[in-house]
This record gives sequence, C-alpha cells and structure tokens, in this order.
Amino acid sequence: MAHGPSSHGSSVHGSSAPGAGIRPMQAGKSPALSGTCTVPGDKSISHRSLILGLLAVGETTVSGLLEGEDVMRTAAAARALGATVDHLGPGAWRVLGMGVGTLLEPKGVLDFGNAGTGSRLMMGVIGGHPITATIDGDASLRKRPMGRILDPLRKMGVEVISAADGNRCPLTIRGAHDCIPIEYVTPVPSAQIKSAVLFCGLNAPGETTVIEAEASRDHTEKMLAYFGAEIRSENHGAHGRKVTLKGRPELTPRPIVVPADPSSAAFPIVAALIVPGSEITVRSVMMNPLRIGLITTLLEMGADITELERRIEGGEEVADLRVRHSALKGVFVPAERAPSMIDEYPVLAVAAAFASGETRMNGLQELRVKESDRLQAVADGLAANGVQHEIVGDDLIVSGKGVRAPGGGLVATHMDHRIAMSFLVMGLASEKPVGVDDTSFIATSFPDFVPLMTRLGGVFS
Ligand code: S3P
Repeated sequence: MAHGPSSHGSSVHGSSAPGAGIRPMQAGKSPALSGTCTVPGDKSISHRSLILGLLAVGETTVSGLLEGEDVMRTAAAARALGATVDHLGPGAWRVLGMGVGTLLEPKGVLDFGNAGTGSRLMMGVIGGHPITATIDGDASLRKRPMGRILDPLRKMGVEVISAADGNRCPLTIRGAHDCIPIEYVTPVPSAQIKSAVLFCGLNAPGETTVIEAEASRDHTEKMLAYFGAEIRSENHGAHGRKVTLKGRPELTPRPIVVPADPSSAAFPIVAALIVPGSEITVRSVMMNPLRIGLITTLLEMGADITELERRIEGGEEVADLRVRHSALKGVFVPAERAPSMIDEYPVLAVAAAFASGETRMNGLQELRVKESDRLQAVADGLAANGVQHEIVGDDLIVSGKGVRAPGGGLVATHMDHRIAMSFLVMGLASEKPVGVDDTSFIATSFPDFVPLMTRLGGVFS
C-alpha cells in the first residue's frame, strides 16, 4: 500500500473519508418515523470476506459488502498482501486470492484508519507468514490495546520488532517462519482475539485451539468451515466455547452473501421505539444468536418488535423486523450478555434514557477500549442532554423518566461512529435538538446513515 500513516485512502464513495473534515450535525424532534429500510452489510462479515478471499486460491465473489471506510482499509491491506480486489458494482466485489502461505510482504505501512477489527484480524493473517509488516491507524486506533493480539501471536512465533508504548500502533511485526500451533485461553471474550489466533493458526501444522469463557461472535469459524477448513466448536463451561482449527487447509473460494448488520440496524430500531407514533420495517437483519443481545434486551424492556419472516440467507439467519414506538421500561442487563451486544450499549443507553425506571448494564469494561472510551463517552453524552445516570465500577445505570429526554446538549464523539449515531438518534425524540461534534466517522460503518434516517422521517441539520 502506497500511503503512509497519516493519509486516509479513498472511499468508493469518494466524499466521506473520516477525519477529512470535521462535520458537526444536530438531530431534532421528528415526526413519526415510517417506511422500510435496509441497512448495509455486516461489518464483521465484510472484513472476513476480504480476508478469506485473500487466503483462498482463486476467485471469491462477495455481494452486499459494506463499503464503509473500515472495510475499504481491509481491502487495501489485502491488495498490499498480494490479492487482486475489484469493485464490480454496488456491494459486489471480487477477490483473487493468493492462498495460505503465499502472501507478499507489503511495500508500505498498512494503514487501517479507525478499524480495530481489520487491523487485529490482519495481524493474525500476517503473523502466520514469514513477512514483515507495519500496522498503523488514526489517533483512535493508536490508543487501542494491541497486546491482547500480540501476546498469543508471540507464542505462535511472531516477532514484535517495534511498537508504540503499551503495545500500540504503529507497530511492526515479523510473522512466524514456522508457525507454532497453540491452545490459547483468551483473557477477555473477544472475537478479534479469537480470529487473529485462528487466522495465524491457518499456517501452523497441527491444531490451534482458542478457548473463551463467554462465546463471542462466530463468523470466523463459520466462514472458515464454509471455505473448507476443518474446524470444530464445542461448548465450554456455562457460556463459553472451545474452537479447534486444523492448520494448513486448502481453502476453496465460495461466493459470499453478506447479511445486513444488526449493529447498524440498532439505530433505526431504537429510533422507531423512541419517536412517538413510529412504525418501520428493517429488512433482512442478521439474527445470529451471538449478535442479537440488543433485541433480547429491548424485548425485555417492552419493545414492540415483530419478526416478519425468519429465513437463511448466505448461511446466516435473517429476519425482517417491524418496529413500533413503545413505552419502554428499565431492565437489568447481565454482564454475560455483553459479547452478543458489545457494540450496541451506546444506543441501548439512549433507549434507556426514554424508558421509565432504571436500566442497569453490568460488566462494560470492554467498552473502555473501543473506538473511544465508550463508557465515558456515553456518560458524558447523557450528562450533556440532561439524562440522569451513574457509572458504578464497570456498570452503567441510566434512570429514564418514561418521557422524552431533555436533549439540548452537544456531544463529543471522540472519533467514534457509534457515539455519533447513538446521540443523533437521541435527538430525533428529545425535547430539544441534540448536537454531535463530528459525524465524519459514521462513514467507517454506515456511510448512508443520515440519508437513510432522513427517508424514514428523521430531521437533521
Ligand atoms: C468484532 C468484534 C468486537 C466488536 C467489533 C467487531 C469482530 O470486538 O466490538 O466491532 O468483527 O470480530 P471484540 O471482539 O474485541 O469485543
């Protein structure tokens, strides 16, 4: 890849590179939301589609790929490692892959921008190959802990040549010459850690095993199996999984259909629940059980969400969801649910601000190491908009009054797309408009967010 750490690559849509210019926005009290929408392809599956395409010999076609900035960074990295990645049409991509063991050493820095998933999964891929690569990103990515990925990779034979303080980006690694298969117990439930170890293990002789105390999203396992790898997943303890991969498989390209991202669907869903009179349908939302903790929680809060048709698309369960404005009530959200809704807490906190009573979300420590310290960013956003709340240890307690939240605040988004979208959703139903200081990072995961919400009736200025 030719560009250096401070450049921003180009979007297929051209105009929406995050960081290219700060774009404040505000959302105001909106009429009832109505209509049908389809949110973009799942971000997790989109990254993995390009990575699997890189690691299989021959042509992988992908439809429904999320064409957000984060995924485009992974596409650029796949090219730098030797794949040919072509954009065929909206959401349609073709990857001509190199195969496990044959990746090229990238010529320049791999700049992942804002993307934790792309950078961490690619560290695993690179780790399994005897090549040297420098991985970097924007100011948000540079703050995020990478030791959680480097620790198991070191055990597999990866050398960390350099890293910024605290095992952070920019960092340079030399992948293993003879990759060592390991059994690794993850220190926190994280699909990114699990996936990095499995991707590295692809080029190890023998079996690589990852054990997690609480099951995280299983897209890597499912997609590796779909591409012909020998991989098995067993229950482990009360909520955990043990995943075992046989190394050096011959991965066979298969067509991939990317389902709609439940983490993006969360925004129109919560918006419809809190804007009085709303009724919308969100089409083909992925209902993978390891991704729908938010839906479970909203139903417990009394949300009127109806599945219209559950079916299988592209190997994942999907459903159309009809959502109506609802009188929500506060609930307790147990810590063990966190992996299945880890990215949805900011928008759940917004729903909780409109509910009656207390919503307590337990065990949110991982929110502190996302694109921003999301626990603090959410608390600050609630404070700015007059919503009573408290952080107790790693728990967030939001006290809703069962009426419109006051609003009227300006929210600091800290380069975090989900903070920006969550508080814009809040503004659609608040007494006074809610402002966010920068919407440019929304392009990392949901470039069409504002137009889509506007079509449903949302008012932005
Ligand atoms: C992701 C896993 C999650 C999630 C991230 C995407 C993935 O991170 O927050 O947005 O695609 O594997 P962790 O696995 O580190 O919790």
